[in-house]
Amino acid sequence: MSNLPIAELVLRKATEPIEILGRTLPAGTSILWCTHIACNNATVFNESKLRALDEVRSETSRKNGLGGRSLWSIPTDRFEPDRWIKIDENTGKRTFDPRAGYSFPFGVGLRSCAGKQLAILELKIYIATLNLSFFLAEVPKELSSHRANIEVTRFPVQAYVAPRPWT
Ligand code: HEM
Repeated sequence: MSNLPIAELVLRKATEPIEILGRTLPAGTSILWCTHIACNNATVFNESKLRALDEVRSETSRKNGLGGRSLWSIPTDRFEPDRWIKIDENTGKRTFDPRAGYSFPFGVGLRSCAGKQLAILELKIYIATLNLSFFLAEVPKELSSHRANIEVTRFPVQAYVAPRPWT
């Protein structure tokens, strides 16, 4: 989900005039933002590009900087759960930090996904139950890609898995 968010696009309507990167958008403007770009920022923009926008960012955004998060430096087409692990420089202790970097598969803010906790619970149960009987073998390269039809949600065209029983 962090690499290939299911909901690719999230729509908002400005209920009052709003300033984004120096441009004022009037009330009623529809604003579409792309979770895919937010989740794949290492391939799209980097901190220097973000800093180059500082002149047009609002004062609050500038002050907030990256809000304690990092822009991923690892290409996000790889499964790298360690991106969420923070290592204490003094003790070497590794802790999970859900706010380590930008990733919005469930949207953000007041109108973010109401079913997030349920969805995560279902996924955990599903993966754990599947793993009791099967492991997922590598899928042949010709059947394995991130290709998808993108509408508001993502429809993978090669969503194959290769479950093999534990022996
Ligand atoms: C992996 C599974 C799911 C993903 C990735 C997902 C993702 C999202 C996203 C991106 C939004 C838009 C958030 C925004 O506008 O900022 C959303 C909205 C919503 N989702 Fe989910 N969702 C998932 C599962 C579920 C489930 C299981 C339920 C209910 C049982 C649910 C109920 C809702 C509702 C009610 C909203 C609208 C919230 C509002 O507008 O206030 N979602 N979801």
